[in-house]
Amino acid sequence: MQRVRKAIIPAAGLGTRFLPATKAMPKEMLPIVDKPTIQYIVEEAIESGIEDIIIVTGKGKRAIEDHFDNAYELEQTLFNKEKFELLHKVQEPSKMADIHYIRQKEPKGLGHAVWCARNFIGNEPFAVLLGDDIVKAETPCLKQLINEHNRTHSSVIGVKRVPDNETNRYGIVDPIDQKGRSYQVNNFVEKPELGTAPSNLAIIGRYIFTPEIFMFLDKQEIGAGGEIQLTDAIQKLNQIQRVFAYEFEGKRYDVGEKLGFIETTIEFALENKELRDDLMKFMASKLEINH
Ligand code: G1P
Repeated sequence: MQRVRKAIIPAAGLGTRFLPATKAMPKEMLPIVDKPTIQYIVEEAIESGIEDIIIVTGKGKRAIEDHFDNAYELEQTLFNKEKFELLHKVQEPSKMADIHYIRQKEPKGLGHAVWCARNFIGNEPFAVLLGDDIVKAETPCLKQLINEHNRTHSSVIGVKRVPDNETNRYGIVDPIDQKGRSYQVNNFVEKPELGTAPSNLAIIGRYIFTPEIFMFLDKQEIGAGGEIQLTDAIQKLNQIQRVFAYEFEGKRYDVGEKLGFIETTIEFALENKELRDDLMKFMASKLEINH
């Protein structure tokens, strides 16, 4: 059986939820404390054993490429000033993995973004990671899915339960059978209207696919919201091969919308030794004012 070595990170979205911050800066570069969100995603991929990453970019996304590149002048300046700890932090992203880039020339949806990377993947199983969620887990989330893929030899989709009034924001799974964290699935539905969702098991942006998914992405059929949806291709794949949903262990942070982004920033800052005490004091003072 072939190992999962390659990953696609779609990063071509417009980031409309964060405008105007994302007018001239990719949303993937918005930092949680001092690290851009996409770096957390790349780190998870590498910690899961991924060796080659392709980031699907679009217009205005150059900063992502620069982030994972060398920055000679900055590095030299930090070296001359003997700021070695900072130098290490600056150099880290460029040493992470072999990162490749391809452009999605038109915003045709997530399914199309993944399809753009088809030649890079070829005929082997691969991972997809979306940048709107950061997952903290003892075993990295993607690694959990890879383990499940190694067990089942099938495509595996990461899911988590979400509140019933949020099911319209996600791809939702209609499960038929459950064994531990693993579900067999009857249907995958993209963003069902509220009250019509078959469950509250939502697709959370971590996927392992067999290469046959491209047979369906090739068709470029338009789905919900007028876009080529990855979830539609998953459902078609599920009709010819078993596709499992896997309820991964760990905490997910939704950094794709404002409140989640702020909550994540606070939680990660509270885990940072340099920030924790002062931030606690600041928050306590705010609570006092409000009472
Ligand atoms: C995409 C997928 C959806 C999934 C979600 C997770 O939607 O289409 O199935 O549940 O990511 O973040 P988007 O958030 O891009 O609208």
